[in-house]
Amino acid sequence: MIEVRAPATSANLGSGFDVFGVALDKPADIVRLSKADKTSISVEGAGANYIPEDPKKNTAGEVLRSLGVTARVEMDKGVRPSSGLGSSAASAAGVAVAANELYDLGLSQDGLIDAAAQGEKVVSGKAHKDNVAPCIAGGFTVSDDDTTAFEADFHCVVALPDIVVSTRDARGELPSSVSLEQRSTTVADASHVVAGVLRNDIGMIGRGMRDDVVEKARAPLIEGYDVAREAALDAGATGVTISGAGPALLAVCEREDKPDVAEAFVEGFWDAGVESRAFQARVGDGVQVVKRGRH
Ligand code: HSE
Repeated sequence: MIEVRAPATSANLGSGFDVFGVALDKPADIVRLSKADKTSISVEGAGANYIPEDPKKNTAGEVLRSLGVTARVEMDKGVRPSSGLGSSAASAAGVAVAANELYDLGLSQDGLIDAAAQGEKVVSGKAHKDNVAPCIAGGFTVSDDDTTAFEADFHCVVALPDIVVSTRDARGELPSSVSLEQRSTTVADASHVVAGVLRNDIGMIGRGMRDDVVEKARAPLIEGYDVAREAALDAGATGVTISGAGPALLAVCEREDKPDVAEAFVEGFWDAGVESRAFQARVGDGVQVVKRGRH
């Protein structure tokens, strides 16, 4: 038996749509795998009612299938599905790492990320790696076919409004093309995010998180987005963006501003008539093995 902790992640960071991601220090899923002749999946925890246990429909089942192994999978979800915090990626990445350990598959980090991305395909229709990569590698990641992982240690606040947005629906809102001007702006902004991570400059990261392509298209799906975003910026956040496909919002800020930013998020959503909760986080590690044993 192998038990792993698979962290929540925040994809995109605004300008890095489908490319950038960060691992968060919380919340996390606990995934337990035991050897079995046939794959079975049981799910409990946050939003478990909404997660299919049929291996053909579950992200974990797809990961095991792509690795050519079977196992009994028990998941305790700490990352709520359809929140924008990489819930399906946590399951997929947790299962990939656990299966690699359980069956001694010898996969490289990129191999694990590829396997976990197959699970993402079940959920969003595309095997994008921007959640599974940071979930496995930790820190800040840049992924296309391959992943480059950077150590990162900055502070953030996540607001989770009481709204459900499916990744498929959020992807359905996206424009099919961008102008040359938008392309240049996005390259500049994304470069600032990377430079900010390398320099540990939270102002530069926040500035680079601007995005008027994907974010603009998706904002109408999140009631209260404008008010909550402005409130968090006024309270000291250097940048605010939709976390992944939403509805969670991610703010980056200095450590001492976290309580104010969290409060501002909740008040902002409240002013717009939306209940929410906010929590303080920081960039964290990737999947960790927490237990090995016979059962
Ligand atoms: N990059 C993805 C998106 C993350 O924004 O659709 C969601 O899982």
